[in-house]
Amino acid sequence: MSRLVIAVDGPAASGKGTIATMLGETYGLPVLDTGLLYRAVGVALERAGGDLADAAAAAAVARRLDAADLGDPALRTRSAGEAASRVAAHPAVRAALLDLQRRFAGQDRGAVLDGRDIGTVIAPEAPAKLYVTASPKVRAQRRWLQLKSAGEAVGYEEVLADIRVRDARDSGRDAAPMRPAADAVLLDTTDLTIPAAADAARRIVEEARARWGQSPG
Ligand code: CDP
Repeated sequence: MSRLVIAVDGPAASGKGTIATMLGETYGLPVLDTGLLYRAVGVALERAGGDLADAAAAAAVARRLDAADLGDPALRTRSAGEAASRVAAHPAVRAALLDLQRRFAGQDRGAVLDGRDIGTVIAPEAPAKLYVTASPKVRAQRRWLQLKSAGEAVGYEEVLADIRVRDARDSGRDAAPMRPAADAVLLDTTDLTIPAAADAARRIVEEARARWGQSPG
């Protein structure tokens, strides 16, 4: 089999993580949730008593990041998501995390990466690019359920407000703003069950592979 790189981008709780995991299983490819890298930088900086607005301090943490730390459940919390989005706006942090992500995408058989700038910056050459969206209300509902089942006491309205702030910050920043690549296929999961979203994602990748097969490179 030839190399297959799949870029899965989109806003918070759009379903991109679930879709990336499923695509990894379908094609037997390693999956990187790049949001965890930014979450790990934000959490480590806060634990060290640093300021999330301090670009140099955040970049220093990003350069020391150990991929072995990405399993920490603390990275899944609401405050970790907020911290991630704040450090992710610093160009120096993004630069520090670039090589690791490009190396992951460069593996022999390919890889699946999910994030905000995979199709635009990390792997612009990826033959298959999805941009996964859903309405803010549906995304807030999904995230609220996830946080509740992880034991976080937070109201739906607060989660919806978080999502709106994060969308605005992620798409409004100068450094690698969240946006669909010109050649990404949009997948709106607002009214889709997980199996239906997974099927739709597989079809998008199959169509991309068929096109790619016709014009390799
Ligand atoms: O799971 P959720 O979509 O809430 O967030 P995430 O994918 O873990 O990403 C957390 C934050 O990291 C985002 O709000 C972005 O600010 C940032 N991020 C980014 O800038 N670029 C990426 N490739 C991935 C995440």
